[in-house]
Amino acid sequence: MPSYKPKYPKIVEIEGVDASPFPRKMSISTDESRYNTSINTSGKPLTIYKGKSNPYIDYQNVDLLLSLQHPRSEGYDEMCFYVMGQVKEMLFKGLHFELFNAREQIKDNKISNSIEILNRATNFVKYIADAWDVLSTIKTEGFNEFRDYLGTASGQLSFMYRHVEFILGNKSVKMASAHKNVPHVWPEIENSLKTPSLYDEIIFYLCREGYNITEDALQRDWSKTYKMNKSVKNAWLSVYQEPTNENLLFQLAESLITFDEQFSIYRWRHFVLVKKIIGYKSGTGGSSGVEWLEKVTKHHFFPELWDIRSEL
Ligand code: HEM
Repeated sequence: MPSYKPKYPKIVEIEGVDASPFPRKMSISTDESRYNTSINTSGKPLTIYKGKSNPYIDYQNVDLLLSLQHPRSEGYDEMCFYVMGQVKEMLFKGLHFELFNAREQIKDNKISNSIEILNRATNFVKYIADAWDVLSTIKTEGFNEFRDYLGTASGQLSFMYRHVEFILGNKSVKMASAHKNVPHVWPEIENSLKTPSLYDEIIFYLCREGYNITEDALQRDWSKTYKMNKSVKNAWLSVYQEPTNENLLFQLAESLITFDEQFSIYRWRHFVLVKKIIGYKSGTGGSSGVEWLEKVTKHHFFPELWDIRSEL
């Protein structure tokens, strides 16, 4: 455990912050207005603003964002844990946005757009997994200094993470139900639970393209986790008969499996980090901890794409 105690540099007087989460009013600029400004400033950065804010702060509510870090213990490592937790929530939001839009493009039969978006989504996952590098500098004793202050808070209660799992087809009525009592979060979690996932939409597309997909993959209870389907596997096997750059479905499948590969690495790194920090102690969220996490690391979102490898 660090023998030193944290000292918190004061950044924002939080009493003065506009706590509204809504977008703030801002003017827009144009090439012409920017050019005129640079003439007026003789090419130097603008440093004088009216009012009590500036456009950079207002664009992303930065003062509000930087007022939301409240470590609760005397432990040095809690600030690192707190900030990285929030950063990960933001990255899950960015990732979910990409997956949501990849699904929209599939619905519109725009496969190459979807591939482009999935490529960014994969990079998001790599970035999220790299965040474990920072968290892995927390030692067991350092974590113990603030663990009690988490109460029963746990990453498993992350609704943003649950949206990511659900849009990828890893549905769970039980995990969703943890948010039932939160009226401003539950409706969208429930909606996400009951809506066909990105992969379900890809299966509909395979069907639209003339692949023989059986009814059980086209009409089912969407709140259940996707399970391997023989007709979907056969469709992918046909797609893989032509493994070329010109075959968009082949390119899509490769983007999907690369995404899944990176997500597995993300899960695995979390599991290993947890084992390193808390060993076999129970989780704060009520689970057995690493034993439970080891089980979830085995999940693949697109099972047929893994299964066909041994037949190619
Ligand atoms: C660095 C110290 C961390 C430890 C020791 C830790 C430990 C655990 C444990 C034991 C679980 C199992 C559920 C339970 O709590 O009973 C869990 C689940 C989870 N944790 Fe962490 N965690 C850490 C950091 C994080 C961070 C920073 C995030 C990102 C926000 C995160 C995201 C998650 C998620 C999303 C789950 C649920 C996994 C699933 O549903 O598949 N964890 N964690």
